[in-house]
Amino acid sequence: MFHDPNILVDMSTSDDAAVYKISDDLAIVQTLDYITPVIDDPYTFGQVAAANSISDIYAMGAKPILALNVVGFPRKKLSLDILVDILKGGSQKAAEAGIGIVGGHSVDDDEPKYGLAVTGVIDPKKIISNSKAQIGDALILTKPIGTGIITTAIKNDEAPEKVAVKAMEVMSSLNKTASETMLNFKVHACTDVTGFGLLGHLNGMTQSSKVGAKIRVSKVPYLDGVWELLEKDNAPGGTHSNLRYLNDNHRIVWERSVSENQKLLLCDAQTSGGLIIAIPKAESQELIRALSKAGVETVAQIGEIIEDSDGRIWVEA
Ligand code: CO
Ligand code: CO
Ligand code: CO
Repeated sequence: MFHDPNILVDMSTSDDAAVYKISDDLAIVQTLDYITPVIDDPYTFGQVAAANSISDIYAMGAKPILALNVVGFPRKKLSLDILVDILKGGSQKAAEAGIGIVGGHSVDDDEPKYGLAVTGVIDPKKIISNSKAQIGDALILTKPIGTGIITTAIKNDEAPEKVAVKAMEVMSSLNKTASETMLNFKVHACTDVTGFGLLGHLNGMTQSSKVGAKIRVSKVPYLDGVWELLEKDNAPGGTHSNLRYLNDNHRIVWERSVSENQKLLLCDAQTSGGLIIAIPKAESQELIRALSKAGVETVAQIGEIIEDSDGRIWVEA
């Protein structure tokens, strides 16, 4: 493979974005993400897709500076007005992040797809990687989980209006405040929760950091309505396959009393989920207070980093 000493972070640590060093105090951070619609409303879909894309910059502790649209759209099947609304939602979210969308590319496609290629900047000495979590760190989560189950329930016409509205609000909110707040602390590692679910992304962190983790289900914040929707079988295919993958690879040690639905929720495929932050325990309460004060609505200490030479996650009820 091509080797360049200026590439400081690449895909080998399952990190959220790549980092390229320009000079001793400047590096660029580069990421790309696009998704298929999680909801019918095109403007909200644009907002959610953009928030989801920019999140990978925030998870590295970087500052986004510009973005490009990535678009797939069925021109013959759908009105162009829908695409205009998707792009308007994306622009609004980018503006909220303080960046402009300066170009992009679209192709004719069977179903809509939308996201951003985002560029950010960071001081190379301040990169927050996925791979530096340390034994004894507290694990903080900055958004409730369950959006995969709820968006599936919306498609199945089973999600109560209030539950659906809250899920949209959570998915379209930026991880900007959480990221900027954590920069004032001695954070060891960070990643965001997306398609592989809470445990899937935490597994990326424990594997690349060569540590284990302990999670308490009772401490994990979730969206109202998810248990009822899980009872009615609304867990999406991706959530089931996340759980299967982690089980087949012996990545998780489940306490006996953890239920099947709890396992599914912890593996629920998220769109634009929160940050998982690993921080020395002595600073964790202060970080939680600072996040809440800065306006991050949901913040919880969900567990800790432990010693485990196999990098497994131990889940307690
Ligand atoms: Co990510
Ligand atoms: Co990503
Ligand atoms: Co990172």
